[in-house]
Amino acid sequence: MPSIKAAIIGFGTVGKGVYKIVDEKREQIKKQTGYTVDIVAVLVRDITKTRNIFPGTVLTDNIDDILNNPEITVIFEAIVDEEPAYTYLSQAIEKGIHIITANKKMFAKHGPALLKHAEFRNIQVGYEATTAGGVPIIRTIGNLLSGDRVKRIQGILNGTSNFILTDMRTEGVPFKTALEDAQKLGFAEADPTDDVSGTDAFCKLMILSSLAFGSQPEWEKVSVVGIDHIQTDDVVEASNAGYRYRHVADIRQNDDGSLTAKVGPVLLEANHPLYSIDGVDNAVIVETEYLGALTLIGPGAGMYPTGSAMVADLLHIIRQQVTELIPN
Ligand code: NAP
Ligand code: HSE
Repeated sequence: MPSIKAAIIGFGTVGKGVYKIVDEKREQIKKQTGYTVDIVAVLVRDITKTRNIFPGTVLTDNIDDILNNPEITVIFEAIVDEEPAYTYLSQAIEKGIHIITANKKMFAKHGPALLKHAEFRNIQVGYEATTAGGVPIIRTIGNLLSGDRVKRIQGILNGTSNFILTDMRTEGVPFKTALEDAQKLGFAEADPTDDVSGTDAFCKLMILSSLAFGSQPEWEKVSVVGIDHIQTDDVVEASNAGYRYRHVADIRQNDDGSLTAKVGPVLLEANHPLYSIDGVDNAVIVETEYLGALTLIGPGAGMYPTGSAMVADLLHIIRQQVTELIPN
């Protein structure tokens, strides 16, 4: 059975999820694609920490161990921040390695350049996990709606914020306790500032903008507000009056082709499709010229939803690119 050798960059919540799913779904992947997939290397910052990996997987803190291994043809990237992720993935593309990323902060800014570079080198890029966790919004807009024209996208794109707003409403807990719960469950970023300030949802909205409209609005012109100023009393009071706070990212294309976007908390009435989206779930409403409106809902963060989106990207790449995944 031919074997595809892959590496994981980053072994936190997401990297571990990918590792476990690839292991648990080994037989299924083999049946579906005719290939086995072996994770042969894992890159972390601190190699002294104990990691639950098989003896056949090399643990390293040196990216060259991965980039210079001619067997490796796919990299899953799940580290934080723009750098060194962008540099590593650019180098991977240069080496002819297919890339799959969950790193929205990096991809919002550098995604268009990476995609262009990859296309030039005939390399595949998977980025389903960057936006809305396990919700397959990237492939829906990029493939399934490609015969239509997207006019507007509205969504709950940060699982941590939605989890906090839900917890404050249903449990009456303070913001800090709800955030700690989201951190314990692996939903929040290691530094949760981007989650609660709206930056994380903004990055995801910019990724969707590039995909749906082929461009992004000027970042400075987008109003971005988080939920960090909202108190439990505000949430409970709104709920008693029949409203719910939701953190919503919204972008639309105007008649002249320009884009208008905003990100922030809004009070919604019960008849709004985002009113009932609770916990870590994300929801994305896509309005198009021909289809009308489509809403996708599902877990927006966490080890398995995110890992499953990255493994789905791998299977998609295998189906697209079988001939170049096994080196001669
Ligand atoms: P995490 O739990 O904080 O893990 C990050 C991992 O990356 C750790 O293993 C860390 O190594 C490693 N790392 C960080 N910087 C590195 C560097 N410069 N070189 C090598 N390794 C480095 O983060 P996570 O929650 O898994 O998130 C990973 C990425 O996925 C982020 O970009 C995040 O925004 C995105 N994401 C997360 C979720 C989620 O639900 N958590 C969902 C979708 C997307 P050490 O273990 O040695 O510290
Ligand atoms: N911290 C992010 C969130 C992870 O809470 O939505 C998923 O991108």
